[in-house]
Amino acid sequence: MNWVISTKTKPTTKRINTSFRDFTVRDIPLVLTIERLVYDSPWSQAQFTDSLNNPKTLSSLLIIDDQVLGYFVATHSPDSVDLLNICIHPEHQHQGLGTQLFDYLSQQLQALSLNTIFIEVRASNKSALLFYQKLGFNLIDSRKKYYSNGEDAKILRLQTR
Ligand SMILES: CC(C)(COP(=O)(O)OP(=O)(O)OC[C@H]1O[C@@H](n2cnc3c(N)ncnc32)[C@H](O)[C@@H]1OP(=O)(O)O)[C@@H](O)C(=O)NCCC(=O)NCCS
Repeated sequence: MNWVISTKTKPTTKRINTSFRDFTVRDIPLVLTIERLVYDSPWSQAQFTDSLNNPKTLSSLLIIDDQVLGYFVATHSPDSVDLLNICIHPEHQHQGLGTQLFDYLSQQLQALSLNTIFIEVRASNKSALLFYQKLGFNLIDSRKKYYSNGEDAKILRLQTR
């Protein structure tokens, strides 16, 4: 399925002072402040709690200078991974941090011998679509009126091997 969005890309610069750690229920209040700044329909505290208590969940935080600036939540089956949420603080987007966070997730998937990643994206979320396109995701399906506001979803897949 053709979905290439024309854009000028620049090489992503890696921030050397970035670190990562597990995202646990204790971190939810902090993450919620970012989540609510970023999304029109943010996850609730209960959604984060349920996900983080699920043993199939992978979740990490991206930290710079002791500040949480990003996070992801993914769930895995024996064959594949669904990336449920990946988010960078709005003041730090488009500086390469999302790519670093995704690379960190990819390392975890490699360790689990998982090489297929799925994600659903709102059709209007052009910056996220560009992000996934740059990471090598392919458009495999669209779901009409998938979201509660009537918006379509784009289903993307990445095969890492
Ligand atoms: C999507 C998101 C995680 C990407 O993280 P990021 O740190 O902003 O992305 P990066 O800086 O690593 O950018 C990598 C590529 O993504 C695309 N991109 C990221 N932000 C963009 C923006 N604001 N406008 C256009 N393209 C953008 C570009 O192709 C970029 O490559 P380039 O630097 O060569 O232009 C982040 O923008 C975000 O948190 N968005 C809000 C939450 C969200 O929509 N999450 C995804 C839900 S499916």
